[in-house]
Amino acid sequence: MPKEFIPTEDIKKSSPEEAKSKEQQSQSQPQTLSLEGVKHKIMIMSGKGGVGKSTIAAFLASSLSKRGYRVGLLDSDIHGPSIPKMFGLENKKPEIDEKGIVPIPVSKNLKIMSIAFLLEGEDFPVIWRGPAKMSAIKQFLQEVSWGVLDFLIIDLPPGTGDEPLSIAQLIPEFDGAIVITTPQDVALTSVRKSINFLDLVNVPVLGLVENMSGVICPSCGDEIEVFGGGGVEKAASDFGISVLAELPIEPQVSQKADTGATYTYEGNESEWDKRFSNVVDTIEKLENNTKNDGN
Ligand SMILES: Nc1ncnc2c1ncn2[C@@H]1O[C@H](COP(=O)(O)OP(=O)(O)OP(=O)(O)O)[C@@H](O)[C@H]1O
Ligand SMILES: [Mg+2]
Ligand SMILES: [Zn+2]
Repeated sequence: MPKEFIPTEDIKKSSPEEAKSKEQQSQSQPQTLSLEGVKHKIMIMSGKGGVGKSTIAAFLASSLSKRGYRVGLLDSDIHGPSIPKMFGLENKKPEIDEKGIVPIPVSKNLKIMSIAFLLEGEDFPVIWRGPAKMSAIKQFLQEVSWGVLDFLIIDLPPGTGDEPLSIAQLIPEFDGAIVITTPQDVALTSVRKSINFLDLVNVPVLGLVENMSGVICPSCGDEIEVFGGGGVEKAASDFGISVLAELPIEPQVSQKADTGATYTYEGNESEWDKRFSNVVDTIEKLENNTKNDGN
C-alpha cells in the first residue's frame, strides 16, 4: 500500500490506547459515514462463511449497472480483497484526489472499493486490534468518494460477530439486507442468527437467497437436489420473509469468480441467470418505489 493511502496521519501515529479512547469518545455520540450521494444501500450478509455472499454481491452490482444504474460495490471483508479479485482488480491501488479515496472503476456505471486495500500494505500496523482497527476502517470508509450512486452494495464479512456488526453499524440507513444461505444448514441456525443480527442493527430483511441449492442436469435440465430441499422455504415462512431465489450450483459462476472475467451473466438464458434476475428485480424496485413516491 502506498504511503499516502493511510487516510490521516494522526490515526497512524496514535497508539492503540489513544485510538481506543478516540473510539470510545465517538461511541458516545453515534457516528456514521456520510454517504450523501448514495440513494440506496443494500447489505449482503450471511450467518456463516463461504455461502456465496461476495459472488452474489458482485453479480447484483454488475447486473444493476447493466440495467443503467450507477452502482458502487464495497467489499467490507477485512480478510482479503475478494471483490477486487473477482473483477481482476486486486493489484490496483486506489488513488486519492481532492475529494477523497477514488473507487476503482469497473465499467461506466460500476465502481468498487475494498477495505482490504487499507489493510493489505506493509504500512498497516498489524498490532492494531479491535477498536483501533475499527477506527482506522471507519476513517477509510468516510473518505471514499462514491459520488452520486443509485445503489451501493455492501458485502459484509461472514458471520454475525463483532466485525460484521461494527461494519454494519458504521453505515447509516440501509434500505435492507439480503441474507444468503445454503441448503446444508438444515436447522438454519445461521438464518436465525442473521435475522437477530439485522434486528440488532435495525436493518430490514429484503429476503433470503438460497445459494448452491442443487445442480441442473446439463442434458435434461432437471434439478438434482443434493442436500434435500424445502428447508429454506420453511425457515423463510417461519420468519415471515421471502425467498428471492434458489440458485443452483453453476460451474460458470465459479469460473467467472476465479478468473476475474467481467461479469456479463445477465442476459444469458441459463437457469441460474433466470432465477438470479428476481434478486436484481427486487433491488431495482427500491428505486422505482422512490420514484413513485415522488422523492
Ligand atoms: N451458485 C454457485 N455455483 C457455483 N459456485 C459458486 C456459487 N456460488 C458461489 N460459488 C463459489 O463458491 C465459493 C465461495 O463463494 P463466495 O466467495 O462468494 O462466498 P462468501 O460467502 O463471500 O465467502 P466468505 O464468507 O469467505 O466471504 C467461490 O469459489 C464461488 O465462486
Ligand atoms: Mg466473501
Ligand atoms: Zn438429466
